[in-house]
Amino acid sequence: MAAGNLQRDLVRTAPERSVPERGTSRRGTSERGTPERGTSERGAPGRGTSERGTPERGTSERGAPGRGRSERGTPERGTPERGTPERTTTRDPADSAVFGSRLLVADLRAAAPAWTPPERVLDSLRRATPDGWRVHVVRSLTVSDGDGADRPSDETLSVIGDAEAYLGFGAPRALLEAAPGLRWIHSATAGVGSLLTPELRARELLLTNSAGVHAQPIAEYVLGGVLHFLRGLDIAVRLQAEGRWDREPFVGAGHSAREVGECRVLVVGTGGIGGAVGRALSALGAHCVGIRRRPELGAPTGFIRVVGLDGLDDELPSADVLVLAAPLTSQTRALISAERLDRLPPGAIVVNVARGALLDEQALAEQLESGKLRGAVLDVFEEEPLPADSPLWGKSRALLSPHVSGVSPRRFWERELALILDNWRRYRAGEPLRNLVDQRAGY
Ligand SMILES: NC(=O)c1ccc[n+]([C@@H]2O[C@H](COP(=O)([O-])OP(=O)(O)OC[C@H]3O[C@@H](n4cnc5c(N)ncnc54)[C@H](OP(=O)(O)O)[C@@H]3O)[C@@H](O)[C@H]2O)c1
Repeated sequence: MAAGNLQRDLVRTAPERSVPERGTSRRGTSERGTPERGTSERGAPGRGTSERGTPERGTSERGAPGRGRSERGTPERGTPERGTPERTTTRDPADSAVFGSRLLVADLRAAAPAWTPPERVLDSLRRATPDGWRVHVVRSLTVSDGDGADRPSDETLSVIGDAEAYLGFGAPRALLEAAPGLRWIHSATAGVGSLLTPELRARELLLTNSAGVHAQPIAEYVLGGVLHFLRGLDIAVRLQAEGRWDREPFVGAGHSAREVGECRVLVVGTGGIGGAVGRALSALGAHCVGIRRRPELGAPTGFIRVVGLDGLDDELPSADVLVLAAPLTSQTRALISAERLDRLPPGAIVVNVARGALLDEQALAEQLESGKLRGAVLDVFEEEPLPADSPLWGKSRALLSPHVSGVSPRRFWERELALILDNWRRYRAGEPLRNLVDQRAGY
């Protein structure tokens, strides 16, 4: 990367004035102003509720950052060492070591244009840079697919050594190795399972993800996919391709049209995505039951009840629609086996917007072929890209998309920027971070 570009992206702006400092009244207060309960792992029930209806992830067990001196022994915000000038424009990366100024690296320029932030988003990030911090916006492109890039760009590696905070799509191993002072990683992906290596866990970093940020477009995708089969649009598409006017499949003995409101829907994972699915389908009258890891936290809006994973087998026989919206963890891998697909009623629709490895694809293809299932809506696959010889390709009862159900360029960056800026402020203030990943639970 040209030195000029590097310097242009090392920006230090005027001191932040409206943001509360450490120890101000917002500490211990959730988004909606309700008191947080405790600061331990998020398995504790009854913690405040986040914007998307799931429990706040609270602080880490080792306490919030930014109180007094940091783990690295560097002074916290507001206590510049050796009389660091308040408004100096720091343009040489080496200055961070000299003045102890704190570095946030934003590695968000995705190769896919739909996932790359508009310049105004990056400008907002630069403008939000408080006194004592620098932001380096990486110019090199990164990978936004799945859980993020496998390796960082050379440019990222060249600056990450001084970084305290990193914003990217995932966090590859080489990045961690090159960043001994990193304390907070934020991933613009929701899935972070593959990041949770023993090396990362041992570092005791604060890791936040983008769970919930993709909820609305994916709920709309699920609604569209379910309607595709309930209303027979798959048949209409086939007939149109064949140039045939044929009402028989719709009105003859094999008719299968249904309304959403007569369906019982089972949603596995009632967080950001599952919660939005429950709200959307129940608004059309569906009877939604949820499965969540912590059923004791209750049923989100749109669900008549929730149960734990141990209730799955009992719920499957009455699920006209099964929606998978849970993270891939050791508990959910291969969750929907051939035996569990067998438990679904005839004519059921299966939707997977989570991760491919939750579902036995081969068994699903067989049940579509046999005609037992009405349809499958699949955005994610065990192997991506889906291999050319996958039996799913040829199935007219399968609606397949290449892991794009969450694409929503404009609204995604509005929500993502708001999350990043709020969390950066919380991080500096020592407040609980939103979307803090429970590294033991795996999401
Ligand atoms: N297709 C795509 O492009 C795309 C985009 C974004 C995300 N995703 C996938 O979708 C997943 C969910 O995203 P999200 O934003 O909804 O995440 P989220 O807000 O963290 O919600 C996760 C939900 O899954 C539940 N869960 C976790 N482990 C479980 C288990 N063992 N058994 C039953 N339920 C379990 C959680 O239960 P509690 O509420 O009790 O904690 C929570 O309700 C992500 O992890 C990612 O893999 C896919």
